[in-house]
Amino acid sequence: KLSVMPVIDQELTRLIDKVCYDVYHESMPSSIDVARKRDTLNFLQRYVTVLFPDATLTLFGSSMNGFGLKNSDMDISLTFLSCSTGAELPDGALSSLFKHMKKCRDLKKLIYVPFAKVPIIKFLHVPSNLEGDISLYNVLAQENTKLLAAYSEIDERVKIMGYLVKKFAKVCNVGDASKGSLSSYCYILMMLYFLQRCSPPVIPVLQALPESTEPLPRKIVESCNVYFYEDIASLSKVWPHHKKNVKSPGQLWIEFLRFYTEEFDSENYVVSIRSTELVLKLEKRWFTKVFAIEDPFVHDRNLGSGLTRKMNLYIIKAFRSARSLFTSKLKATGKQSLVGVY
Ligand code: CTP
Ligand code: MG
Repeated sequence: KLSVMPVIDQELTRLIDKVCYDVYHESMPSSIDVARKRDTLNFLQRYVTVLFPDATLTLFGSSMNGFGLKNSDMDISLTFLSCSTGAELPDGALSSLFKHMKKCRDLKKLIYVPFAKVPIIKFLHVPSNLEGDISLYNVLAQENTKLLAAYSEIDERVKIMGYLVKKFAKVCNVGDASKGSLSSYCYILMMLYFLQRCSPPVIPVLQALPESTEPLPRKIVESCNVYFYEDIASLSKVWPHHKKNVKSPGQLWIEFLRFYTEEFDSENYVVSIRSTELVLKLEKRWFTKVFAIEDPFVHDRNLGSGLTRKMNLYIIKAFRSARSLFTSKLKATGKQSLVGVY
């Protein structure tokens, strides 16, 4: 197909590829950024241990899942060696920690959010200028972090696409779940779902591999099966499509925008990265929701449940505009930076 494409399309593809690589390289944390995060975590670990000697702080989220941008926040889960689950925790552990953290002069913008679905303490660590959240026993989030990290290891294009969609959500102001849109985590799941379903697929459904093994192994954490195929280096042995898709990042990016504006039937189907089968909204009883994204491990959790009809339309419109900007205006203006294009 490519050989009969007019020259202008090849030129345009090259230009879009350049934007993709530019965004990827500009957003990628440097070794200095990574070291700054590690040092900040060590500082917090030492500070928290003064109050709770058996406390352990574990990073999760984009700092560990392969989709971390330069200035992504630090998502931290606090656990205690003496308590194997959060249910055994003494009352008020997080509020005592909050009082303790307020005494630290390197920590500012401290906010305690006790009544959220996941109670957190928000902070800014002044010397590193890093913001973050501390939550208690966020163990399933640690598991989905490992799942996303495995997907990000399969192919560099997975990372590039992840960075692009996060940057897109940020630039278009549609990436804040607390303001009625979708979280970064949702956009990454949408991207992975697309990469599983494009032709040929770029990534498999890791939770359904190896296909020949019946039944599949199970690993239970907080009553959820968090098993997935982890041996990415041996993927070609269990997945026949490995490396069969050779499209460039730019081609995949345009296909992604097309997939969610034209192909994916969000009225009837759920974005579900854990299944090779299509998942119907009807079977999940999510038919009243405008857009449904199933958590890969907590299957009754619709991560898009906070989305309003208006915001959904706004996001789709942003996808449409991006698609037309990338395929026409980019060429006309010759601008090569995503931010410039917007
Ligand atoms: N998470 C989750 N369920 C949600 C939202 C988040 O399990 N509804 C978990 C995911 O592991 C996610 C992590 O919490 O990666 C942190 O969420 P957030 O900081 O919003 O996203 P990040 O993936 O860290 O991306 P960003 O770089 O924007 O911080
Ligand atoms: Mg984060």
